[in-house]
Amino acid sequence: MVQAEPTVGAVEAYAYRSLPRDEADILLEDGLAMTRAERFSHPDAPVANVRANVIESRIHRRMGGEPIAYIVGTTRFLGIELDVDRRVLIPRLDTEILVAAALDTPGERILDIGTGSGAVAVAIGLSRQTSHIIASDVDADALAVAQNNIARHQLAIDCVQTNLADAFTRSFDLVVSNPPYIEPDDPHLHQGDLRFEPSKALVGGRLMLEAVARSARLCLVPGGRVLIEHGYDQGAFMRSLLAETGFVDIETLLDFEQRDRVTGGTMNTRSGKT
Ligand SMILES: C[S@@+](CC[C@H](N)C(=O)[O-])C[C@H]1O[C@@H](n2cnc3c(N)ncnc32)[C@H](O)[C@@H]1O
Repeated sequence: MVQAEPTVGAVEAYAYRSLPRDEADILLEDGLAMTRAERFSHPDAPVANVRANVIESRIHRRMGGEPIAYIVGTTRFLGIELDVDRRVLIPRLDTEILVAAALDTPGERILDIGTGSGAVAVAIGLSRQTSHIIASDVDADALAVAQNNIARHQLAIDCVQTNLADAFTRSFDLVVSNPPYIEPDDPHLHQGDLRFEPSKALVGGRLMLEAVARSARLCLVPGGRVLIEHGYDQGAFMRSLLAETGFVDIETLLDFEQRDRVTGGTMNTRSGKT
């Protein structure tokens, strides 16, 4: 016997019973390929069983806490659509501060250390088409996601798999990085989206921030600038770290909640030693 197909209205009602409305709307729009207005005008339209089953299983994944971005496979960063999956961090709103700071900084040769989905490199690349950008990551799986996003936006950004900036010589005007800066014992790692994201993209703490600063120093030309995103409680640490590492003009930028978020420093033109 052929089972009757559910209607748009029935699928919608199930989603709204199971999830907060905004989350249900995203899964319904993606799963049914219909806007809310279209669903409203065609509540009796049939939904193929295969499609209804996919939506139901996605609703269950969300009820289990999986981030919506992984379930639908895309997210938006600065209005730019990016493919994401469990190989990469889901780009955060705070990282817009890093991109804005990069776009305010002169210099055409740019390195993005720990590119992940490629969010930062792609956002800079779309605004500064003349720049020569390299997106690097230690993780080949993450780099594959970045490569896909770079191709999707038709950008000429090179991807390089390397630890920090180990593969590069002193040749960049600007190094940007949103490294894994969460301390290993941070309880947030066991909460929300972070439970599903790769630990390589999250855990590193102050040791990682230090490694990024030192590595950046070795690949920046004199007068070049580094911009590093960090935790809201790591601003003071970052300012002394950059000063100790030989950077000058050190400045911390605040996020949308007025907390320390990105610290930058310029390579002292008189210091060339490592
Ligand atoms: C916090 S995620 C940032 C992703 C992306 N840039 C963003 O802002 O959304 C950190 C990234 O750094 C990469 N990573 C971790 N350790 C690294 C290392 N030693 N060298 C280079 N990249 C590293 C991870 O694989 C991950 O993709």
